[in-house]
Amino acid sequence: MLAKLEKKLEEIDQQQLLSFWNQLNENERKTLQHDIESLDTDRIIKLRKILSEKDKQENLYQPGNFKPADVDTLPKTAQEKEKRRAAFRIGEKAIKEGTVGAILVAGGQGTRLGFHGPKGVFPVGPVTDKSLYQYFLERLLALERRYSTRIPLYVMTSEKNHHETKEFFLEHDYFGKERNSVVFFQQGMLPTFDENGKIFLEEKYKISKAPDGHGGLLNALKENTLFEDMKNRGLENLFYFQVDNILVQICDPAFIGMHLQKDADLSAKTVYKSDPFEKLGNIGIINDTYVTVEYTELSEEEKKARDQEGKLVFGQGSIAVHVFSRKFLQRFASDELELPYHIAHKKIIHIDDGGKKIEPDKPNGYKLEQFIFDTFPIAERVVVMETERDKDFSPIKNAEGTDSPQTARQHLNNYFGSWLDRAGYELERDQEGNVQHQIEVSPLYALDEEEFISKIPKDLQIKDKMIFE
Ligand code: UD1
Repeated sequence: MLAKLEKKLEEIDQQQLLSFWNQLNENERKTLQHDIESLDTDRIIKLRKILSEKDKQENLYQPGNFKPADVDTLPKTAQEKEKRRAAFRIGEKAIKEGTVGAILVAGGQGTRLGFHGPKGVFPVGPVTDKSLYQYFLERLLALERRYSTRIPLYVMTSEKNHHETKEFFLEHDYFGKERNSVVFFQQGMLPTFDENGKIFLEEKYKISKAPDGHGGLLNALKENTLFEDMKNRGLENLFYFQVDNILVQICDPAFIGMHLQKDADLSAKTVYKSDPFEKLGNIGIINDTYVTVEYTELSEEEKKARDQEGKLVFGQGSIAVHVFSRKFLQRFASDELELPYHIAHKKIIHIDDGGKKIEPDKPNGYKLEQFIFDTFPIAERVVVMETERDKDFSPIKNAEGTDSPQTARQHLNNYFGSWLDRAGYELERDQEGNVQHQIEVSPLYALDEEEFISKIPKDLQIKDKMIFE
């Protein structure tokens, strides 16, 4: 058996993975054997080639060749507002007919947040500490009830958090959603490489691996025969969202409606950036096709460029909320279309040649990832729709400061506070306009402002903490 492993590793020039074989016990040997056997040699050869040619890689984006997207901006006139209302009705119809599903990508490692556990488990409710997952599931359930329909949810996890995620759902009885309408599946993992193209060991008996990026969704759907599952359930379009955005309006009917009106392959939601350097992807056009250029790539000059009205030329930032047509995604299930790999230079914990565990303080190796937005150039019909940040976007990325649990809770208070404003109540606010009460409205109580106002109790007392559930 050892000889077989040695031979395989020799073919891909990775013999170092067996350096500690003689020191391993039987179980550890089994783990390592399994890891080595599951390495896809063709893929490893390909990834090493990509790494070795990384300096020659030509970027599609070059300053000057990027044009702003054609965006359906926030409606201002009565006519524009009516257009969104019409789209809303079309979206509602599709939801009612049961042709819309949802995909939640939650396989990331959430390193910046520094939370040990799946990010969706993170407690974020200002009053109840309810988790991101609970919000999402309650919203889906509320939509299902409102439209007497079923909205299947596909949750992509990774080896790093699959078990814990499923356990959390089980523990909470899927937050009331029917179990067979939630499908968990794991994205792929790719080995991490040192600067010479050698695969790292995370332990003497274990290969270091990282999730293959949210673009790994396509492979994972294919391998788990989930395109067939979607088809069997009658799903034609999928609402895609990330686990970190507490305000995401899951299955927003207006967004789905716009997508359907154009018979789009994919649609993307954007917000106008809070400043030129906000860390958002930029959706625009290169060579007549849609692309996303990451904030790390866009040139400083283009980040700051303004039009005649003083607005940022590349002001529309992606909030990573999409609708995809199933058939469009399914095109990537063939072998001909493959998303490119992005290389990230990272600090990777590993076992060195002497068998010592190293926790580097500067980047020492590479992770490779595929990104879902690299599907854009293949799309023929695309909708880009601007949305209001305070109603649709508050991500939790960092432990503190911007895009942190603290800002997410404040944004929830402000959002629900705006409903109370509309209902005619006076709230305390600080100088920046932040609501000073802790307010939580379960989506099961009210999905939107209109429903909230219709249900508000006559004898409501404004307090420091308020829960509506
Ligand atoms: C991402 C987008 C950015 C967008 C921003 C909006 C990328 C590269 N950039 O930035 O364009 O403006 O969100 O908030 O995505 N995930 C997986 N598997 C993985 C990696 C990530 O499921 O292997 C999931 C995460 O769980 C998370 C989401 O993808 O839900 C976003 O990942 P993250 O790496 O945090 O993206 P950002 O850099 O924040």
